Amino acid sequence: MAMNINSATKRLGKKVKLYGWIHRKRESGGILFIILRDVTGLIQVAVKKAEVDDKSWNMASAATIESSVEVIGIVKEDKRSPSGFEMCAKSFRNIHISEPFPITEYQSTELLLDNRHLWLRSQKMINIMKARSYIFRYSREFLDKDGFFEVTPPVLTRAGGETGSDLFETDFFGTKAYLTESSQLYAEAMSFSLEKVYSLAPSFRAENSRTTKHLAEYWHLEPEMMRFDNLKSMLLQEKLISNIANRLAKDHEEILSILGVSKESLLNIKPPFKRVSYEDALSMINEKGFNLKWGDDFGVEHERALTESEDKPMFVYNWPREIKPFYMPVNPKDERTVLCSDLQAPKGHGEIIGGSERIWKYDELTERIKEVENAKGIKFDLDNYKWWMDLRRYGSVPHAGFGMGMERLIKWMLNLDHIRDAIPFPRMSNRLSP
Ligand code: 4AD
Ligand code: MG
Repeated sequence: MAMNINSATKRLGKKVKLYGWIHRKRESGGILFIILRDVTGLIQVAVKKAEVDDKSWNMASAATIESSVEVIGIVKEDKRSPSGFEMCAKSFRNIHISEPFPITEYQSTELLLDNRHLWLRSQKMINIMKARSYIFRYSREFLDKDGFFEVTPPVLTRAGGETGSDLFETDFFGTKAYLTESSQLYAEAMSFSLEKVYSLAPSFRAENSRTTKHLAEYWHLEPEMMRFDNLKSMLLQEKLISNIANRLAKDHEEILSILGVSKESLLNIKPPFKRVSYEDALSMINEKGFNLKWGDDFGVEHERALTESEDKPMFVYNWPREIKPFYMPVNPKDERTVLCSDLQAPKGHGEIIGGSERIWKYDELTERIKEVENAKGIKFDLDNYKWWMDLRRYGSVPHAGFGMGMERLIKWMLNLDHIRDAIPFPRMSNRLSP
């Protein structure tokens, strides 16, 4: 009976069939020791000449690293084998003999990125990609259970959505179109019928910044909630993130241990998260020896100073109006600021969420757009935003939402050095293939 490596180790002494790829191979004293890989893990297979037919022996001898194979044998416990189990082969078949694999031990980062399609077979990438899949699943499950509808916004758009300066432009049947920077505006439109919605889709940023936390294409979770203020939105954010972290810790100890991530650090992620105003955050950063002025945005080194000794994410709320987008309402209690919050991951992993209340009154919106135009010296093409501004003309309602960068979240939760490892095929200013 064909099964996977994990279930085979629970059928000790029984004959089982495994399909997989050859991870490592060596010969010792007339025995071929093959480490076999499948989706569930690795197991050592011993092929002994005396215990298999000639065809099996010849095939096992000819098999190369990454060849795909079929093995029938008996699994037993073996303390000396790396996985604690060993299969004694009774029959061995090559399905395909691999050409010499271009990745051997100790390769440069560039070579691994050039061979990303093959490097995805490494234990490191396999376990990151499994964790990524669970993180996507738990994000959806949490919101679905909370009464949200998943919606699917367009990627091609005329309404940039965020800063406007980082747009990828493309030709759309003779007119200019952009790859979306954020699906927020479309999620807002859908929240006027479905009330609580989220989209989980790619966002594109033509930022030429070569940092360890910027991708040109990233996956963006964007919930939008009717009748929420930003405080209610923050409460939702901390519950969402804690739920993902705790489920990962409880159900995927093995993945975490292979990746060297502490289970306890993820179990420790629980509401409430610290809430610090922009102004207080500024003082906290300056106490670490910086000289930021009121109105400055935070750079990578400032975010690090603010969060390096934190164990949990931290909200920084009510930012200066000059450095935040056109859809954020002015704070009635302090007109220098807008009603918003960014969530900073601990240990300097940087901003993982940006969120805010949305201006819901038409006149307030046109005024704020003018203000942003003047401050940034840009001109909005209002024709492209008319449909979105219409939402403020037909039964408008206060609402709020946020955007979470999935790869930023993964980078933090799995403690990765670089965001490119949080996504299978990274797109960065210097990389478009494979
Ligand atoms: O702060 P941002 O630009 O906010 C928005 O786009 C809002 N419209 C979201 C919303 O309210 N619906 O981006 C949100 C998040 C950031 O906090 C960060 O996690 C991630 O998106 N992000 C990036 N992730 C990877 N690479 C980049 N270049 C990113 N830019 C932003
Ligand atoms: Mg932001």
